[in-house]
Amino acid sequence: MEQTTPAASAGNRWDVDPVLTVEHLTMRFGGLVAVNDLSFNVGRGDITALIGPNGAGKTTVFNCVTGFYKPTEGRIVMRHGPGLQAEAVDAVTASGLRYRSMPEGSVFLLERMPDFEISQIAKVARTFQNIRLFGGMTVLENLMVAQHNALMRASAYTVGGIFGIPGFKNAEKAAIDKARYWLEHVNLIERADDPAADLPYGAQRRLEIARAMCTDPQLLCLDEPAAGLNPRESAELNRILQFIRQEGTSILLIEHDMGVVMEISDHIIVLDYGVKISDGAADEVRTDPKVIAAYLGVDDEAEIDVPEIKQDVEEVVHVAAAPAAAATRKPARKKAAPKAKAAPKAKAAARPADDAGGHAGTRPAGLEAPRAAGADNLTLIKGVGPASEKKLNALGIWHFDQLAAWKKKEVEWVGAYLAFPGRIEREEWVKQARTLAKGGKTAFSKRVAKGEVPTSRASKPAARGKGGKA
Ligand SMILES: Nc1ncnc2c1ncn2[C@@H]1O[C@H](COP(=O)(O)OP(=O)(O)O)[C@@H](O)[C@H]1O
Ligand SMILES: [Mg+2]
Repeated sequence: MEQTTPAASAGNRWDVDPVLTVEHLTMRFGGLVAVNDLSFNVGRGDITALIGPNGAGKTTVFNCVTGFYKPTEGRIVMRHGPGLQAEAVDAVTASGLRYRSMPEGSVFLLERMPDFEISQIAKVARTFQNIRLFGGMTVLENLMVAQHNALMRASAYTVGGIFGIPGFKNAEKAAIDKARYWLEHVNLIERADDPAADLPYGAQRRLEIARAMCTDPQLLCLDEPAAGLNPRESAELNRILQFIRQEGTSILLIEHDMGVVMEISDHIIVLDYGVKISDGAADEVRTDPKVIAAYLGVDDEAEIDVPEIKQDVEEVVHVAAAPAAAATRKPARKKAAPKAKAAPKAKAAARPADDAGGHAGTRPAGLEAPRAAGADNLTLIKGVGPASEKKLNALGIWHFDQLAAWKKKEVEWVGAYLAFPGRIEREEWVKQARTLAKGGKTAFSKRVAKGEVPTSRASKPAARGKGGKA
């Protein structure tokens, strides 16, 4: 975030000079859409964080970028050399080739390349969510294996090359020097001759990073590198990542925990259920209501005590209650939640989409007020937090049986209205509501009844599934 060049001030830096561009990436596993039409840029020289709750699709994105999966749809462009190189990207796309290397810059279409080419030619390196080292080899050997390809090239792929040809000796010396360099910088040089398996967990994580750096990546992809680290190790990791960036490698970092990345990231992209819900500088993302809701508004039913969320809810409720004003009123803020028009009568259901707040699907029928027996506690539906409950009430949805009657079109509309497309399906709100409407119990409502889910809603602000990836 050093300089503000004229070009950069015209837009986000990462859109002006992206090392990686992911466009309309979709990854399906059978019926499950793990990543849904995802687009983002990773700025050259930036630390970019991809964050989101467990199951959001983060690792799947990495697996597509690094060639472990072939995406169902989408383009993934890696660039060596500055700028968008739009002409070159278009030319390669049209040509059916995998990449084009030119003195002034090279572009690579990663979705067309096998994983070994992505690491060796496109220069994208990764680490894994679960450590993958050669435990029986020494620390230094692990780093030499990483450079195996460079060494084999120097040997001209002959036994004669390995014994005695000066080119190989030089390459081997360079490989050892590089290994030492990174071992020093990850603070493992004293352990160079120990078996990798003997290292404590945090040190193994650092070794993985050193190993990735020995392949001279232009982009380093790290999948939850801070998972399982203690605070001191976590701080050390931050320092290492900043050093790597300073050395000229761009970093794409997956993190589950928002706090970890806020400190070092230039740019944060937030995924929830395979969909991008926020994208911007760390400060913008931190205060984005959708992000806060994704982290707070789901399993834990925490009271939404955050000013931005309160404001968001108030706006939606206000707009839903004041239809005449809604048509002319401008959103108070750029990131205001989707607006909804009034819910006058229970017959409001079958309206066309453009008369329903601009969302696709059908606005569900609402009631002006709860029935005489009082409103149901909609937060007994797992996935409905207090903020979503207020927004549903604003639509005239007060009872389980109302939700239970939603069809695909209503689910689609409400997903857009709540700004969480896909969530209602994934969390099976309608199925839960059907059970609850009949007076039955769901696994979640049982937990609430047993007091396992805090009802004093402010008491558990933990992120959904936090730390669940041991
Ligand atoms: N190989 C696979 N086959 C089927 N489903 C998968 C596969 N990989 C991931 N998924 C599913 O895709 C979703 C996203 O998973 P993942 O990318 O691992 O999320 P994250 O890394 O954000 O926790 C999850 O529902 C997961 O179960
Ligand atoms: Mg993951």
